Amino acid sequence: MFVQSLVFPFFLSLSAVRSSFAANAEEWRSRSIYQVMTDRFARTDGSTTAACDSSSTSYCGGSWKGIESKLDYIQGMNFTAIWISPTIEQITGDTYEGEAYHGYWPKNYYNVNSNFGSSSDLQDLVNAAHVRGMYVMVDIVVNHFANWGDSDIDWSGLTPLNSESYFHPKCWVDWNNQTSAEQCWMGDGYVPLMDVNTEDDQVITMLNNFVHNLTTTYGFDGTRLDAAKSIRKDFWPAFVSAAGVYSQGEAWYGDAPTQCAYQDYMDGVHNYVMKTFATEAISGQGNMTMLAGKLNGLVSTCKDVSLLGSFMENHDNARMASISSDTAILKTAAALTVLSGNGIPIVFYGQEQMSSGNNAPQNRQALWLTGYPTGSDKLYTYFATLNTFRNHIGTSDSAFLTAKPTYDAPLSTVLSVRKGNMMMFISNEGSKTSSTKLTSTGWSANTALVDVLSCQSVSSDGSGNAAVNMNGGLPVAMYPKSYLTGSGLCSL
Ligand SMILES: *[C@@H]1O[C@H](CO)[C@@H](O)[C@H](O)[C@H]1NC(C)=O
Ligand SMILES: *[C@@H]1O[C@H](CO)[C@@H](O)[C@H](O)[C@H]1NC(C)=O
Ligand SMILES: *[C@@H]1O[C@H](CO)[C@@H](O)[C@H](O)[C@H]1NC(C)=O
Ligand SMILES: *[C@@H]1O[C@H](CO)[C@@H](O)[C@H](O)[C@H]1NC(C)=O
Repeated sequence: MFVQSLVFPFFLSLSAVRSSFAANAEEWRSRSIYQVMTDRFARTDGSTTAACDSSSTSYCGGSWKGIESKLDYIQGMNFTAIWISPTIEQITGDTYEGEAYHGYWPKNYYNVNSNFGSSSDLQDLVNAAHVRGMYVMVDIVVNHFANWGDSDIDWSGLTPLNSESYFHPKCWVDWNNQTSAEQCWMGDGYVPLMDVNTEDDQVITMLNNFVHNLTTTYGFDGTRLDAAKSIRKDFWPAFVSAAGVYSQGEAWYGDAPTQCAYQDYMDGVHNYVMKTFATEAISGQGNMTMLAGKLNGLVSTCKDVSLLGSFMENHDNARMASISSDTAILKTAAALTVLSGNGIPIVFYGQEQMSSGNNAPQNRQALWLTGYPTGSDKLYTYFATLNTFRNHIGTSDSAFLTAKPTYDAPLSTVLSVRKGNMMMFISNEGSKTSSTKLTSTGWSANTALVDVLSCQSVSSDGSGNAAVNMNGGLPVAMYPKSYLTGSGLCSL
């Protein structure tokens, strides 16, 4: 979406030898992303017993080789992309705030984080994903560097910004002041996150070169921009252009105008507005009428909601299973994530196992302790069905991916999502949902439809209306039966 005319002749020889889809926004639109915290997903030794306390803020031993060995597990749910933790070298040592196992405390851009493996391990992971046709999105941190303690900062030990002059002077962030959010420091006296002076021309050149080198060296297909709201918006277009791939930023805001504004500077942002209000609605603290209004508001305000990130869990938020133990509610969150129409689906590792940690670090459990079961008692096969369905519509119906979704609340407890030829209904009452009669409208007359999530068939009547059966409060995703041929769904 941005001018791709920046020239980096210096790197051309490097980029030629690496496998890469160098995927743009158009190519990412159809994808479905599985978000991995590298330290917590899988270990090189394949252990399913290695200790990792649920409140641990230390390295637990996950690695790039571990992820590579579990690509089958991820692809078994039909995800077509992974997002991995930042790859670069971090500050070391066990600070009062723990270790840098998450990857958000950079020290040297030009070394990899050796806790996760070697640079050839990282290259192997990217190549192995590409062999399967999967994209790899890398998490990028350019807003700040970190230090152990805020006195005697070792500026010369940082690479490549090895001087205090490349940073904003110390002041602690006031989130109610956007200038402060962009120029002051996050963190605290134990682990200050020294704010990079992204207004400085020399710094800008170094950061753009860094991201271009990183994506082309390894062949990353997309970037996730950490702390995007903590850098002035104007910084991003040249950076994203230098990255040369689809870029999705973290801009944590609760209203459509502020969130959507970032889409003029990068391809997409995590859809925090949907996440915030969907959590409220699904947990029973809000209602679906409100949620329908918020989602329609995003469609009319954002440049293109299909390029946002649609998620209900991530490394910074409480797991849905810590909010509700009702499987119907957890399936509702899963269905909304994949079929919301309000972004590229992003599922946080462990959501499929109904991991139930609360706020960080409890939400960052070691997945190996589950043993990676692939059965249907949790959400593993449910996500496989949701992804297979979305992948099928995306490849068989050219209008689907770009079709603007519309949202309605036929009841204050039920949300309907219509996108192209798909219509989904979800309830916020979970298994307590009473068998209310609902009607789905707008179909062609006398059309055979299938709820792909229950495989129940239903026909529209002569006026194009069809009955909706929300058995046990489970999501319903209706689609014309004739279009499902060859999908493998419901034996079609
Ligand atoms: C979904 O995953 C299953 C199991 O791995 C596989 O058989 C099927 O081909 C996949 N379907 C799509 C559309 O990716
Ligand atoms: C490019 O990145 C590699 C690996 O991170 C590093 O070794 C190399 O020095 C970088 N080159 C430039 C010109 O920044
Ligand atoms: C906002 O933050 C900036 C940077 O710290 C500061 O200069 C400015 O005075 C603050 N504005 C207000 C209204 O507090
Ligand atoms: C839904 O929630 C909104 C705001 O959260 C409230 O104003 C409205 O009255 C609620 N509607 C119903 C039907 O409960």
